[in-house]
Amino acid sequence: TTARSSPTGSAPVLVASNRGPVSFNRQEDGTLALRRGGGGLVSGLSAIDDPSAVWVCAALGEADREAARQAPDGRLDRAGHEVGGQAVRMLDIDPETFARAYNGVANSTLWFVHHLLYATPTEPAFDAGFRTEWQAYEAFNAAFADALAAEAAPDAAVLVQDYHLSLVPALLRARRPDLRIGHFSHTPWAPPDYYRMLPDDVAEAVLTGILGADRAGFLTRRWALAFADCCADVLGAEVDREALTVTHAGRTTALGVHALGADADFLRERSHRADVEERLAALRAAVGDRRTIVRVDRTELSKNIVRGLLAYRHLLRTRPEWLDRVVHVAFAYPSRTDLAEYRAYTASVERIAGEINEEFGTEDWQPLILHVNDDFPRSLAAYRLADVALVNPIRDGMNLVAKEVPVVSDAGCALVLSREAGAFAELGEDAVTVNPYDVIATAEALHSALTMPTAERTERTKRLAAAATALPPQQWFVDQLTALG
Ligand code: G6P
Repeated sequence: TTARSSPTGSAPVLVASNRGPVSFNRQEDGTLALRRGGGGLVSGLSAIDDPSAVWVCAALGEADREAARQAPDGRLDRAGHEVGGQAVRMLDIDPETFARAYNGVANSTLWFVHHLLYATPTEPAFDAGFRTEWQAYEAFNAAFADALAAEAAPDAAVLVQDYHLSLVPALLRARRPDLRIGHFSHTPWAPPDYYRMLPDDVAEAVLTGILGADRAGFLTRRWALAFADCCADVLGAEVDREALTVTHAGRTTALGVHALGADADFLRERSHRADVEERLAALRAAVGDRRTIVRVDRTELSKNIVRGLLAYRHLLRTRPEWLDRVVHVAFAYPSRTDLAEYRAYTASVERIAGEINEEFGTEDWQPLILHVNDDFPRSLAAYRLADVALVNPIRDGMNLVAKEVPVVSDAGCALVLSREAGAFAELGEDAVTVNPYDVIATAEALHSALTMPTAERTERTKRLAAAATALPPQQWFVDQLTALG
């Protein structure tokens, strides 16, 4: 693994992330079908018009693994599988190692810590099973560091993404000290008292892993400072909270704050295509002339969908003037269904939704429309139609739904926004603020949002859209590269 002498590759810019920009599905005839992913990172990287850039990601399922095995050197064939001119290298990691690293450590441990999701009297319990998962996480991170070290040209810039890959910066620096390395966290960061729940060696390894980078990026100053606080508390690192730097073991890592914004050009164009218009017409027919409260999330514990539904129920129970005058359109898309907690949560969402329709529904009025199958054009249609958008996460790195709705909205939309979402730092002033744990306060916030005067709603939506698009994905990406020097 030492490698000052190891041969270098030819990529001047590299991105590394667990979930890559493409994935494969096996079709009925046995062939592999390619799917392109969306999101800020994909549009961000498209700003780099350099065909020798490489994106390293993990094969996430059997179809991905087979595609990766068929590709020469694990590189996906440029003609068929390139994304915005860049090559994708999908790592064929053995399924057991992948499952332990992804489900066991990344999604059950680090995600839970950063989003404060544990029910602490019983969870977490770091036992022998966890140690096996942690070893897999180390191997998973080492596989990424090896691939990046092999692909990177001398002095290349490498942008490592998120909590799946927190050990990569330090591992990569050991292999290739010539590289300029950035890490970016798309999640919140836990405060030290909570973070210290991790076993001491794990808590230290995650921090020193990221400190292997020249720059560590965060979505808000709040998360950057929480990271700095953990470095001071756990490592005894020297922290400059003004300059946003962390010095540990003789090296200084700069912390960056890059508040990823919505992609206005893409959203405005995409939300007026025929498939969206079609779905908008169907939603309009279902809602009639009633008001619409919209939410769109992955069915994710931190998104707080259950308390959102309880708040809607409380609104209907306590404010009968809304009976038959409002419809809650809730899209809760499947996510991380390998985890039992997520399956149970999905069941709760469906159960409470059923109870609400049972309690209040009439022959002409279905108070809640819940969809659990993913459909992006339908989400855009709901964004256009919404009178109120409900974004009430317990804790969220940013939350792009809060930023996308005001950009796409046809007639202005009142935003009910949790003060614990990263987006709150930029959007809080023009949103109706909620404490995500307070169901009654959330119901009251829905009521104020529903009764907001039209002119005020329009003005606020304009300001929200401006704030939401201040840092488009392309600029977000270029800023990070520039900051690396
Ligand atoms: C969050 C994380 C991403 C992740 C996404 C979807 O936004 O920051 O890294 O890709 O959730 O989760 P999944 O487990 O499906 O990749």
